[in-house]
Amino acid sequence: MQDLFEAARGAMARAHAPYSKFPVGAAIRAEDGAIYAGANIENLSFPEGWCAETTAISHMIMGGAKRIVEVAVIAEKLALCPPCGGCRQRLAEFSDAGTKLYLCDETGVKKTMTIAEILPHSFATDVIG
Ligand code: THU
Repeated sequence: MQDLFEAARGAMARAHAPYSKFPVGAAIRAEDGAIYAGANIENLSFPEGWCAETTAISHMIMGGAKRIVEVAVIAEKLALCPPCGGCRQRLAEFSDAGTKLYLCDETGVKKTMTIAEILPHSFATDVIG
């Protein structure tokens, strides 16, 4: 868990957040055991920026992994930074019932939750695909 926290904190240091000045870091441990980290990347055209969790997910997918075992999130300016609504859905896409979410501050993990807890009644259907 400490390695995941440190990866999230390290990613946060690489955030590109000149507009919000709100750096966020996320780190995913995937089913292959590897850690995939990411930071938020903003854009002068504000809606074009994206979240730390989304960067971490894209690293996981491009690394060849598909399932999230656990994920840590940290924001410099917030004691606990729960993923935004869109990122909850993105995380849920690759999570299982037991996938753990660690909300961190600068010193370590402060709260442990599951993806199911932060996104209950998530969108699911078998009529697509
Ligand atoms: N942000 C994240 O990276 N993850 C979240 O879960 C919440 C918000 C980013 C997006 C934007 O760059 C900044 O935080 C302020 O909203």
